[in-house]
Amino acid sequence: MELNRDLRRAISAIKTYMEIERDAGLDEILLPSLSLSVGVSSKSGKGLKERLANLEIETALCKGCQLYRSRNNLVFGVGSEGADLMFIGEAPGRDEDLQGIPFVGRAGQLLTKIIEAMGLKRSDVYIANILKCRPPNNRDPLPTEILACEENLLRQIEVISPKVIVALGKFAAQTLLRTQTSISKMRGHFYNYHEIRLMPTFHPAYLLRNPGDKRLVWDDMKKVMKELGIPLKK
Ligand code: URA
Repeated sequence: MELNRDLRRAISAIKTYMEIERDAGLDEILLPSLSLSVGVSSKSGKGLKERLANLEIETALCKGCQLYRSRNNLVFGVGSEGADLMFIGEAPGRDEDLQGIPFVGRAGQLLTKIIEAMGLKRSDVYIANILKCRPPNNRDPLPTEILACEENLLRQIEVISPKVIVALGKFAAQTLLRTQTSISKMRGHFYNYHEIRLMPTFHPAYLLRNPGDKRLVWDDMKKVMKELGIPLKK
């Protein structure tokens, strides 16, 4: 049973890898090395796709915590591997776990609107979470789970090598910046995260409950747009 689950996960990750190769126009499959080249930050398309696919395979097989047992799907990340802008949320919810894609539920639809208001598409950015597997019943991630998943995220960030990271919500911001400072205090200011500019802002799920604070998030996104040289539409 255990072996079957692992095999299914590995096959699904390999399928993703082969689809990427096929979409890139390759008609033969080169077997990837599973060791990632840490520290390489070139943004050349094919190398990044391959490195990200390798990392997804490794993450699919990760047993660093117990969450792999209860998840339906790994929720690795989605978007452009060459993105200058990366959004990082907390952990997959029910919809994300069922589809294997981050931010596809109600909060995700609001995030999509925010991205589009910035003049971008979801496919222009990269979207991921701190945790790649859903905590049962959407409970808060445990410190041990965060620790176990941290390397997966760091390696993912290393491949994407974005110019700006937007940390969505208290949990992502506090985890990435190793602080207990409240999100209300942090949002709206850039921080340095491994030489990458990081902007904490409110989580879209919070905005669904507090729509009055959407304008604050928009203020934060305007700062991000300025940083990335994205023009503001009048
Ligand atoms: N909330 C998150 O933090 N991440 C998701 O993928 C969905 C909802």
